[in-house]
Amino acid sequence: MILITGASGNVGREVVKQALVVGLKIRATFQSSDIAAKAPAGLEGVIMDYAKPETIRPVLHGVEKIFLVGPPVRDLPALEANFIKEVRAAGRKHIVKLSALGGRESMFPSGHRDSEENIEASGLPYTFLRPNGFMQNLVNYNAGTIRSQNAFYGCQGNGAVSIIDIRDIAAAAVIVLAATGHEGKSYALTGGESLTNEEIAEKISRVAGRKISYVDLPAAELKKGILSTGTSEWSADALIDLQRLYREGKASLVTDDVERLTRHKPTAFDQFARDYAFAFQDEAKVAC
Ligand SMILES: NC(=O)c1ccc[n+]([C@@H]2O[C@H](COP(=O)([O-])OP(=O)(O)OC[C@H]3O[C@@H](n4cnc5c(N)ncnc54)[C@H](OP(=O)(O)O)[C@@H]3O)[C@@H](O)[C@H]2O)c1
Repeated sequence: MILITGASGNVGREVVKQALVVGLKIRATFQSSDIAAKAPAGLEGVIMDYAKPETIRPVLHGVEKIFLVGPPVRDLPALEANFIKEVRAAGRKHIVKLSALGGRESMFPSGHRDSEENIEASGLPYTFLRPNGFMQNLVNYNAGTIRSQNAFYGCQGNGAVSIIDIRDIAAAAVIVLAATGHEGKSYALTGGESLTNEEIAEKISRVAGRKISYVDLPAAELKKGILSTGTSEWSADALIDLQRLYREGKASLVTDDVERLTRHKPTAFDQFARDYAFAFQDEAKVAC
C-alpha cells in the first residue's frame, strides 16, 4: 500500500492519476470529505490534516511507502514535522518527499531543506524529489493576464529556468514509489531546456496565434500585484525571492534525472504549450 498525500494538489493529483494507470494500490489523503468525494475511482480516500496529528496515525496503517507533499507555505517544515513524527512512531516506512530545487538559496526551497534535514535525522528510509519550477505555473498563475492582456509579469529579467512539466514529476514519482533501489537518493528534476520568459512568451505566442509579451517589473511593483490577489506577505516575499534566484541564473541547470528515472525525455515546453493551448486563448474571442 502506497500513501499519497496532498492528493488534491497540482502534483498529488497527477501522481494519483499515473499511479492508478500502472495499477498501484493507493491510499490518498484529502483535507475534507467533499474533496475526497471528487477523487477518481480505484483508490482509498482518507481525511488527514498535517496540523492535527491525531488524523495522521490512522492513515499510516498498512502503508509501506509514502509520497509526501506539503503545501507551499511558511509552515511547511512544521506541518511536515508533525507527519514525520507520526511516521517514526508507526514504524519503518519509506518517505518519498516532494521537495524543491534550490537548497538554501531561496525561501521556498529552504523550507523544503528544513524538512529534508528532519527526515534525514529521523532514520527513516527516504528519497527526495527536487523539481525546478513547474511549467503549469504559467497556467495556474499567468494564464489570466495572458488571456485578458496578452501579457504576463515577473521580475526575473533574462534569467533562464529549466522549468519542468508536472506530468514528468509525477512519472518520476511513480517509478520511485513502485520500484526499489531509490533509498537515500535525491533527484534534481528539471526540464530538458532552460528558457527565459521572453522565450516562453514567444512559444506561447506561437500556439496562441497572437503576440504574448513578457513584462519585467521592479520587484516592489510585482510584490504589490501579488499581495493584491490575497497572497500572504511571506508567500509574496518567497515568490519574489524565487524570481531573484531565477534572475541570477541559479535555476538554469539541466539534469538528466527525469530521463534516467522514466526512460523518456522531459516534455519540451513547445509540447506543454500545445497541450495547454486552451488556457491561453484570447478572452475577447472566447467571449464572442
Ligand atoms: N510551483 C512550483 O513551481 C514548485 C516547484 C518546486 C517545488 N514545489 C513544491 O511542490 C509542492 C506541491 O506543489 P503543488 O503545486 O502540488 O501544491 P498544491 O497544489 O498547493 O497542493 C498542496 C496539497 O497539500 C494539501 N494540504 C494543504 N494543507 C494541508 C494540511 N494542513 N494537511 C493536509 N494536506 C494539506 C492541499 O490540500 P487542499 O487541496 O485541500 O488545499 C493539496 O492537496 C509544494 O510543497 C511546493 O513548494 C513547487
